[in-house]
Amino acid sequence: MNSAKFAAIILVTGCFATACTSSDRVTTNQAQPSASPATATAAATATPDPFAKAYENFQKNCQVCHGEKGQGGTVTVEGRKLKVPSLRDGHALEHTDEKFVNQITDGDEEMPAFKDKLSPNEINDLVRFIRKELQGK
Ligand code: HEC
Repeated sequence: MNSAKFAAIILVTGCFATACTSSDRVTTNQAQPSASPATATAAATATPDPFAKAYENFQKNCQVCHGEKGQGGTVTVEGRKLKVPSLRDGHALEHTDEKFVNQITDGDEEMPAFKDKLSPNEINDLVRFIRKELQGK
């Protein structure tokens, strides 16, 4: 009884060993694993910019008249020739934040009102953006 059991174990291990050897032989002829898919490394290392959203709003709503850097000048918008003041220097340096907020919210002679387009928070952020990024305050 005991020896039979022993024999069985040898048989099983023997099988096992054979299986291993044969599978070893097979592997040599295998096709190369296909190239690993291109790893899309996010090159955009997000630099947190508190003014990013304000800048986006500026580009979308204000740049057409006030210029890329808020420099102003004479622009033709929708067929009308406008003299747009600089937001970087001149009067813009003296006017208070409240005045800016009011002008952006309610508009002025040629300056459109933005109260329907931008939230009070967005307008406040725009004023902070103008002060910091355009006027360097
Ligand atoms: C259609 C052209 C136009 C657009 C668009 C426009 N502006 Fe103006 N903005 C003007 C003009 C022109 C003035 C000068 C006042 C006037 O004539 O109404 C002015 C004046 C201002 C002033 C006051 C400057 C000062 O010295 O007191 C601020 C601040 C201002 N704009 C900010 C903005 C912001 C912020 C936006 C975008 C949300 C914007 N403007 C979009 C034309 C424009």
